Amino acid sequence: MRHLLDAAVSKRNALSFPGTDALRLIDGEGDGLPGLELETFAGKWLLSTRDRTPGPAVLEWLRDQQRTVYWKQLDQHQKESPRWVAGPEQEAPFPVRESGLAFEISFQSGYSQGIFLDQHDNRAGVRERMRPGMTLLNTFSYTGAFSVFAAAGGATTTTLDLAQPYLDWAKRNFVLNDLDPARHYFCKGDTFHWLQRFAKQGRKFDAIVLDPPTFSRDQDGTVFRVEKDYGRLAALAFSCLAPGGWLLACTNCRQLPPAAFEKQIRAVSTKALKIRHAPMPADFTAEPYLKSLWVET
Ligand SMILES: C[S@@+](CC[C@H](N)C(=O)[O-])C[C@H]1O[C@@H](n2cnc3c(N)ncnc32)[C@H](O)[C@@H]1O
Repeated sequence: MRHLLDAAVSKRNALSFPGTDALRLIDGEGDGLPGLELETFAGKWLLSTRDRTPGPAVLEWLRDQQRTVYWKQLDQHQKESPRWVAGPEQEAPFPVRESGLAFEISFQSGYSQGIFLDQHDNRAGVRERMRPGMTLLNTFSYTGAFSVFAAAGGATTTTLDLAQPYLDWAKRNFVLNDLDPARHYFCKGDTFHWLQRFAKQGRKFDAIVLDPPTFSRDQDGTVFRVEKDYGRLAALAFSCLAPGGWLLACTNCRQLPPAAFEKQIRAVSTKALKIRHAPMPADFTAEPYLKSLWVET
């Protein structure tokens, strides 16, 4: 067991992610350690396990590292924050760096800690595609990490989420990067409603990021399931896209194969779309559950 844990961490040490101190160190089956994930956030570690508690060998290895370690159980329905396991406790939010930008992390914020590391390469891709004067709409934004990358690339961003605490967190992420939130837009509410409203107003964006939860229900009780309804979401996004605009469409739905995902998007467009499937980042070595389509119109 110890040699697998050490080997996984050494493998990540050999990868080069400039300006980045947040990455996945152990990725379950990809590292011969099914049911076990480990992420580093500026040297503070978060262990996630499918089992109710980590086994004694893993706990002993973690304690030997002499660093802050927290633990959570892998379960999307869980709301609890990670629990302290070893090293100094980390009770305040703290910054990490990704591709030279800073993001606030919290081990007290419930199941998710502020940034989804599997979107690392896509965020860098968004910044690369931005030019001053461009506009980007980040739907289902969570803490606005895509918006920060777009703004750092010179775009004017609109950040949209159901939850005000996440929009406030997004604004703090802008400030952490010396980006003025007052020069950008933040919309609280349902993505489907906002997209309809933008379309009615004739408001267009050069780029739109779609990264919805696998299942959601809006305020009118309408259910959205990625496997069936992604096309409906993409159609709404296309109606808000400026000529020549592009979408980044993502899903982490394991039940939706990449070809079926692409088919849903092509089915709602009258244009001959240019679509590229992006792979997951190199620190994610297990099953590539995250599907990311760069869709050019
Ligand atoms: C999986 S996270 C998105 C992660 C984000 N794209 C990122 O890369 O950081 C899902 C987010 O969508 C938000 N959300 C869920 N349903 C929504 C809806 N119908 N409209 C807007 N936001 C929604 C949640 O509040 C949560 O912040």
